[in-house]
Amino acid sequence: MDFFDVVVIGAGAAGMMCAIEAGKRGRRVLVIDHAAAPGEKIRISGGGRCNFTNVNAAPANFISANPHFCISALRRYTARDFIAWVERTGIAYHEKTLGQLFCDGSANEIIAMLTGAMRQAGVELRLKTSVEAVAKTDEGFRLTLGQGAVTCESLVVASGGKSIPKMGATGFGYDLARQFGLPIVETRPALVPLTFEVGMLERLKPLAGVSTDAVVSSGKTRFAEAMLFTHRGLSGPAILQISSYWREGQAITVDMAPGVDIAATLKAARQTRGKQAAITVLAEHLPRRLAQLVLEEAAAAANAGDLSDKAISRIGAAVNAWTVKPVGSEGYRTAEVTLGGVDTNALDSKTMQAKAVPGLYFIGEVVDVTGWLGGYNFQWAWSSGWVAGQTV
Ligand code: FDA
Repeated sequence: MDFFDVVVIGAGAAGMMCAIEAGKRGRRVLVIDHAAAPGEKIRISGGGRCNFTNVNAAPANFISANPHFCISALRRYTARDFIAWVERTGIAYHEKTLGQLFCDGSANEIIAMLTGAMRQAGVELRLKTSVEAVAKTDEGFRLTLGQGAVTCESLVVASGGKSIPKMGATGFGYDLARQFGLPIVETRPALVPLTFEVGMLERLKPLAGVSTDAVVSSGKTRFAEAMLFTHRGLSGPAILQISSYWREGQAITVDMAPGVDIAATLKAARQTRGKQAAITVLAEHLPRRLAQLVLEEAAAAANAGDLSDKAISRIGAAVNAWTVKPVGSEGYRTAEVTLGGVDTNALDSKTMQAKAVPGLYFIGEVVDVTGWLGGYNFQWAWSSGWVAGQTV
């Protein structure tokens, strides 16, 4: 039987970060993953360029039953710290929008940076290795693996959430937490496209593939980013963001011409450009196909000069305050992250250690801390992995 000071389950962003830090402290570390390669989610992230952090990362960008839990880790290992490492490694990157940093080249560079650091820190990595059972012992933990068994003093669960089951995501981490008596905050798919019922889909069919800037709100939460009509419903960054706040049965409100009062614009056009086609006026502020459908649904006159007050107010409402009830989401199949997870009340925010089970740690997405879209989820993985790595 092999003995390790630290065993990390999951060679993702959080697990590798933790293993590196523990290895640097001279701990004997083993990382186990059932996948064939480490960092598979990093590889596919950010369209293959990995949005590895966000320069504005702050606790307000994270959702958790305890919004204060993430503060300590985010303060101790910041976006600046990770950026400095990326720069030292010589990885070229750029800011795309809203503080989001992407590799110029490929996400593989981030994976190579992490695996290189693991090797340097003497971390052992066992891939294609499944964990069959975990038991508490007097000295720590005993893990029964697909092949053989290992024991360790500290066990770190970095097995991620349930999103993208096709890539091997399971509920493993939550089951393990339950086994040790830790509560779980109910999980649900987040950063996920929203779907419509059949009738609505039929109406919006001509818009599939149309993208527009929008302000999307659910209750008091709003996001101003791009939105995309799909053949299932709505997607794009603004929708993915709001999906983390939206709940079944609720409506969302969409302003598809942010900053432009469409009713006022049409009224002005009625006076000054009456002979112009209404579609010409509306298409100055909306994608043409969207403008076309809005006019059709408002039964609007062809020329701007002939628009009735009623039609103008219908068009204004449809564009500036479209209120729509999604029926659901595309689920874990396409969700970027899992909302909920191991209840932070059961963890020490400075170390990620389970309060009631010394030696047991949870880091990354498996914990009930979920970031917005835009590099925040990786920052949580780096920060929570780093702090655990100082203690395990
Ligand atoms: P992660 O899921 O990365 O790693 C968990 C590891 O555990 C995996 O390697 C898995 O194989 C392994 N594992 C699971 N169960 C196991 C078991 N039973 N036994 C052994 N191993 C097991 N975030 C961001 O900040 N910027 C971005 O650009 C993107 N882009 C993006 C795109 C897509 C398509 C997705 C799905 C997600 C993103 N994300 C993102 C989210 C980000 O990928 C995610 O939050 C982090 O990868 C979470 O890191 P973890 O290390 O916690 O889990």
